[in-house]
Amino acid sequence: MCGIIGFTGVKNAAKVLLEGLSELEYRGYDSAGIACFTGDNTITTIKTVGKVASLNACIPPELESSCGIGHTRWATHGGVSKQNAHPHTCGKVTLIHNGIIENYLALRDELSQSGRQPVSQTDSEIAAMLIDSLYQGDALTAIREAAARLTGAYAFCILFSDQPGTIYCIRKGSPLVACHCESGSIIASDMVALLRYSKDYFVLEENHVARMTADGISLCDLYGNPAVPDYQTVTWDTSSAQKNGFKHYMEKEIHEQPEALSRTIMPRLIKYQENDTYYTLPDFAADNIPDTLFRGLSRIIITACGTAMHAGMMGKILFERLLRIPVTVDIASEFRYQNPILDQNTLVITVSQSGETADTLAALRLAKTAGARTLSIVNVKGSSIARESGYVFYTHAGPEIAVASTKAYTSQLAAFYLIAFRAAFANKKFSAQECSLNMERLLSVIPALHKILEAKEYTQEISRHLTKATDLFFIGRSMDYALSCEGSIKLKEISYIHSEAYAAGELKHGTLSLVTADVPVIALATQHDVLSKMISNIKEVRARGAFVILVTVKDAVIEESLYDYRIDLPDSDDWFAVFPAAVVLQLIAYHTSYLRGLDVDQPRNLAKSVTVE
Ligand code: M6R
Repeated sequence: MCGIIGFTGVKNAAKVLLEGLSELEYRGYDSAGIACFTGDNTITTIKTVGKVASLNACIPPELESSCGIGHTRWATHGGVSKQNAHPHTCGKVTLIHNGIIENYLALRDELSQSGRQPVSQTDSEIAAMLIDSLYQGDALTAIREAAARLTGAYAFCILFSDQPGTIYCIRKGSPLVACHCESGSIIASDMVALLRYSKDYFVLEENHVARMTADGISLCDLYGNPAVPDYQTVTWDTSSAQKNGFKHYMEKEIHEQPEALSRTIMPRLIKYQENDTYYTLPDFAADNIPDTLFRGLSRIIITACGTAMHAGMMGKILFERLLRIPVTVDIASEFRYQNPILDQNTLVITVSQSGETADTLAALRLAKTAGARTLSIVNVKGSSIARESGYVFYTHAGPEIAVASTKAYTSQLAAFYLIAFRAAFANKKFSAQECSLNMERLLSVIPALHKILEAKEYTQEISRHLTKATDLFFIGRSMDYALSCEGSIKLKEISYIHSEAYAAGELKHGTLSLVTADVPVIALATQHDVLSKMISNIKEVRARGAFVILVTVKDAVIEESLYDYRIDLPDSDDWFAVFPAAVVLQLIAYHTSYLRGLDVDQPRNLAKSVTVE
């Protein structure tokens, strides 16, 4: 839940750390700090409450260093205060931490008996105390012995005061990627912080220790056996992780969706010949996902969190329509506690942009242990979920920086469409011709997204009517209900307006009592098979005075008196209307947040990557 970075090399470490922390700030932004070896080889620590910009203002220009560590925090244990900000120091040890040490209270009590007293309320400081208590000049031994005592998840970058210029790192459960380049050695929670130095990086293996100096990075397991880094190359460049002229990352990422979808879909298209005809089919040979994964299934379980789970809700509709087998969607944080029924004929699909969400990772591990087949839809290459899953489908959406997920969501949707079509074809539920026809429809989503992005001004005008709202409803049926859930989370997370998604037909069973003239309703009516019923539901809210924003399709005949604003989506088949409709909802959320003067990219209390359970 925090961003961490370490650098040792030939550049000004404070500058490298601050630049890196700005890239990592999406991971947490309530306080920040750095610790560097300075001229006389002592460690200088500077930390502050607030964002990286506040930390920047505290760094004296004369601070010269070539080795240091930096942290941007999302508070878990201990409130937001300078004391609780990282780095934490105990004796010879100064460290930064991302994760949660579950047994920190027991360790704190034990270590306090030997005279060490924490000054913060954090679990991280206890880890510093523990490592210091075990350190007698041999870093690897101290780290190994500490790792044996710590339960929970962690990524640590550690400075030992008697080893200037060297950083030790270890991780379990929380991400760390690193590289050695001309400027030196650098490690961070996410590749985005490394990009300005190198496109090549490796993922630090769990329970491996990296010893970083300006000359290189040596790796070993906890017993000192050397390990070799497995370097990978990112395909995107630094501009992908910048705003490129947009006011916010979210705005930029909304606009990147046509391109992101094309990266998800295009590499998976093949020409398939049957008799004398060629068909366009999805094919996952390059992903090493065999058709056998989809055959002989008795059920599918989709598990994920937040927006990724909402994409899964759309996946359920598609799979059930096409494969005619039961599909459930489970919130990952609940999955393990439901004693789920899993066997080798169950396919568990986990969905995660970051590939690091702790609850989703835990669900995946449970599914694997129970012998289920596992497939993950992931954006970040080499992330924990991708590495641990039986099969992985990368969405290739490119880096997503804004906390509110946009292009990752539509890429996840596209992934579900591709997988559902391939699975239907592999199970002979879809002929090559049907599959090909639907692939064409999926491809037509890309120009439809370009078109709907032109409605930006109109969505801004609509948002002006929402800025004063305190409560709001999204309503829809079938696919539109799944999309309503996504529209609702998008709006509430960045505008702080309370909103709820309701299956339109369910409203009258209690919740309609909350609808008044002060409660706007965003009604999604893109599905022809339920259009007349949806119109009745719109009438119900209109009769209670609601301000209605209607998102629908051109040919839907709906009385003008039933809505205040109407957005017609570009022509598309019903199954695919959710893509442009999703963009409309993202734009409304974006403008509403911006017009309310809020921090669009970094909403309060949240972080992009939730690596705690
Ligand atoms: O990285 P993940 O896709 O696993 O993240 C899951 C959720 O935390 C995430 O989708 C969250 O709900 C977004 N902030 C919503 O915009």
